[in-house]
Amino acid sequence: MIILSRPPPLSSLPPNPRIASPAPHRFSSSSSNLLPPQCQTTERGHEFETGGTFYRRESAVGRDLGVLAASLHKRSSPQLRVLDAMCGCGIRSLRYLLEADAEFVLANDANDDYRSVIARNLSRVSDEGRWLVSSNEANRIMTECYLKRDFYDLVDVDSFGSESSYLRSAMNCLKLGGLLYVTSTDGYSSGGHRPHHSLAAYGAYVRPMPYSNEVGLRMLIGGAVREASVLGYRVTPLFSYYSYHGPVFRVMLRLNRGKLLTNRHYEFISYCTKCGHSQSYSWDELSKLSCTCNKEGGSLVVSGPLWTGPLHSASYLTEMSNMAEQLGWMGNGTGTDLQKLLQLMVDESDPKLPFGYIKLDEVASRAKINSPPLRTMMSALQKEGYAVSRSHIATNAIKTDCPMATCIRIAKEV
Ligand SMILES: C[S@@+](CC[C@H](N)C(=O)[O-])C[C@H]1O[C@@H](n2cnc3c(N)ncnc32)[C@H](O)[C@@H]1O
Repeated sequence: MIILSRPPPLSSLPPNPRIASPAPHRFSSSSSNLLPPQCQTTERGHEFETGGTFYRRESAVGRDLGVLAASLHKRSSPQLRVLDAMCGCGIRSLRYLLEADAEFVLANDANDDYRSVIARNLSRVSDEGRWLVSSNEANRIMTECYLKRDFYDLVDVDSFGSESSYLRSAMNCLKLGGLLYVTSTDGYSSGGHRPHHSLAAYGAYVRPMPYSNEVGLRMLIGGAVREASVLGYRVTPLFSYYSYHGPVFRVMLRLNRGKLLTNRHYEFISYCTKCGHSQSYSWDELSKLSCTCNKEGGSLVVSGPLWTGPLHSASYLTEMSNMAEQLGWMGNGTGTDLQKLLQLMVDESDPKLPFGYIKLDEVASRAKINSPPLRTMMSALQKEGYAVSRSHIATNAIKTDCPMATCIRIAKEV
């Protein structure tokens, strides 16, 4: 008779010496005694302590958006279980518990020194039971959850740089129909300055393009699309948020079983340095790469494959706005920024708008005129029948389905 013994939990085993920790310096502080004693702060009215943990006030909007999505999920699902894989001081976990009314939150941060700060913060909400603190490497805890068949409704991975190795383990411990909230802070890769690095991390060879902030979001979504398809899943972006501090690229994705419904949205994009026109190419069209302005070629910068589909779901954003209203985050001047952001994202979701945006300064310099005022430019384009929107992703830029050359003609006429 063969007797199968239960293996010990992964967390009790020593780490594989062949696998280097992704970024040990990120979560090792030289001594826990270095954490300053209780440094109190507040966010959305909740008091908590940051100690010497990683906490950025500027990331509060990203946390607001995560809570809104979690609250919507809670409304339509029997329960809300959240895995906060890189929780810092635990402010996200606290907010998922308090504001989204999560049944359970697993708050994990690889830095063991943060454990007591996280636990003190979460004890403000309830006794342990509704939450648990762990100090594991993110891939390790998520893989352990997957192996235990301990699945979550929302997995939040607030990582640094272009660490993408967690994508697969995060998807593995996510329930089907669940939400995956992922982050990249790699502005060098999105700017096209490390194409081999972006290729390794997200499978996309990224070159410098004038709308690099948006490319950063599309690179992250594309990486997740690729990883999901390996597992027989597909992911759909519900919202994509760019924030200049960092920079930070955040995307909320819904995971479903099945392949991408169409491969139309996983493509290459080109930018013509001569006329400023951008275009997308499916894999089958790669041999046709050229710009109409320059038949000899040589003027195209090409990046990809990237996600070229919608960055947001307009209907989902509308539900998020309604939820923000219910939470009292809109109006009265207090939630003005969030309100504006959600509205801009809805505007950006017009399916007629292609990828990329046009900086008004570039229009001005190509047309050799002063920068046209945003409103004037927009209404001129709308009068000509183009779809046009401002973009939250770049200031002084518009998203439009108007090719650059026509833009310049219109700008001259303004
Ligand atoms: C951007 S901070 C998190 C901030 C937090 N989510 C918030 O909203 O305030 C990233 C955190 O991840 C932790 N960390 C870095 N690499 C990690 C890894 N591989 N596994 C788990 N935690 C990690 C760091 O200690 C740090 O606290």
